[in-house]
Amino acid sequence: MANFWARKSAAILEQEAAQGDDGGDQAPKRALSALNLVGLGIGGTIGAGIFVLTGHAAAANAGPAVTLSFTLGAVACAFAGLCYAELSSAIPISGSAYTYAYATMGELIAWIIGWDLILEYAVAAAAVAVGWSGYVVNVAHDFGLNIPAKFASAPYVFDAAHHTWSWSGAILNIPAVFVVVVISALLTVGIKATAWFNDFIVALKLIVIVLFIVCALPAFSTANWVTSGNPAGAFIPPNAGPGVFGWSGVLRGAAVVFFAYIGFDAVSTAAQEARVPDRDMPIGIMGSLVICTVLYVAVGFILTGIVPYDRLDVPDPIAIGIDAAGVGWLGPLIKLGIILGLTSVILVTLLAQPRILRAMAHDGLLPPIAAKIHPRFRTPYVATAGTGIGVALLAGLLPIELIGELVSIGTLFAFAIVSLGTLVLRIAKPGLKRPFRAPAIWLVGPGGVLVSLFLMFGLPADTWIRLVVWLTIGLAIYFVYGSRHSRIARTG
Ligand code: ALA
Repeated sequence: MANFWARKSAAILEQEAAQGDDGGDQAPKRALSALNLVGLGIGGTIGAGIFVLTGHAAAANAGPAVTLSFTLGAVACAFAGLCYAELSSAIPISGSAYTYAYATMGELIAWIIGWDLILEYAVAAAAVAVGWSGYVVNVAHDFGLNIPAKFASAPYVFDAAHHTWSWSGAILNIPAVFVVVVISALLTVGIKATAWFNDFIVALKLIVIVLFIVCALPAFSTANWVTSGNPAGAFIPPNAGPGVFGWSGVLRGAAVVFFAYIGFDAVSTAAQEARVPDRDMPIGIMGSLVICTVLYVAVGFILTGIVPYDRLDVPDPIAIGIDAAGVGWLGPLIKLGIILGLTSVILVTLLAQPRILRAMAHDGLLPPIAAKIHPRFRTPYVATAGTGIGVALLAGLLPIELIGELVSIGTLFAFAIVSLGTLVLRIAKPGLKRPFRAPAIWLVGPGGVLVSLFLMFGLPADTWIRLVVWLTIGLAIYFVYGSRHSRIARTG
């Protein structure tokens, strides 16, 4: 009889945490500094969200108070982030929320969360690769190179109103497949090369964002807060229905911009490649969250101060902003920043996913081949290749709309479990060494669970149904394979 509630004991956790140091063939390489980890967090976080959703949330939900929406989103992430930081310092093992759940709530919950994280990482990578393809086609066009739509869009389209699939006439989204394949190859070759490349593109995208803030600032005027729906120019425009301006709009806006924050937790999947994990994981997780929050609030504040928010519901709100601020010359740089931003999001999500799969395979819940580490490169090359192939197929064949919201609900679910797990571990193992302790855990733990659930309930019913279908498929796989091959349930 399978033991669904088997937990990883302290002895097993210690043994696994030490594994990265043993220098053997099957050990990942400890190559990442605290700065690399902050770079990974920022790389995985700043992407489509800030460049696109800020405009939509300002125009439809919060107006200039989109800065408050970003702040609220940050509070939600901070609860979960502090819990991630505590667990990653106490249990510095790759696998992130999956591993934490295994240590605190047992195997079945761990499997569910590991399966759920595929939504946050592999599915997000596919969605962002499709966005990347769109921007690359656009920039190529600026340079006089026209990539035909049939080679740069999804062959299958989904009609959500009628729940039917049809063929769009396209063949394959080739740029989306290309970026996934190239990044997967880089990830296979080495974590250090990957971290350097990531640090480089993160630095460039930060420069582009700071340039936007600095150059647009002189055009800031609260006169831009005045619109037909907000004649008095209030910071929080008057409420016009549930989720439409007023405080309820600020809240809805927070759910919309939550996507922008997804990614900082990916730092926790690289624990076994960190040089000093118990010290540096919290720095990586909280450091990247703080930097992203500051930039998001600043961009939201400036954007709504240079363009009346009712003009921002467009796919490229930042472009509208720079034109309005009279710094149109920044346009090409902004496009470059966006492409770089999306590149590092794809890179970090494709880095995170195989590490979770590897941890699951190591525990016997997936076939052992997925746990293999390359003898020379010391990377989980089989899981990386498998992830690359799966994500390339998703990105090359399917439309983006279908999968975007699944990423948010999957991430929120993981946040809720991690927050709960931190609390459970404090009660179950009060004496465990915790180099980083989340402050006010009785506020932060329940806060993380409640805020995550609250934001999940803000998502549409269709998304919930897809989440339930996805988790049901996962459970079926667990009962057919994982429960029979689990290493922990057999050896304790
Ligand atoms: N936070 C990531 C982005 O905004 C997923 O693209």
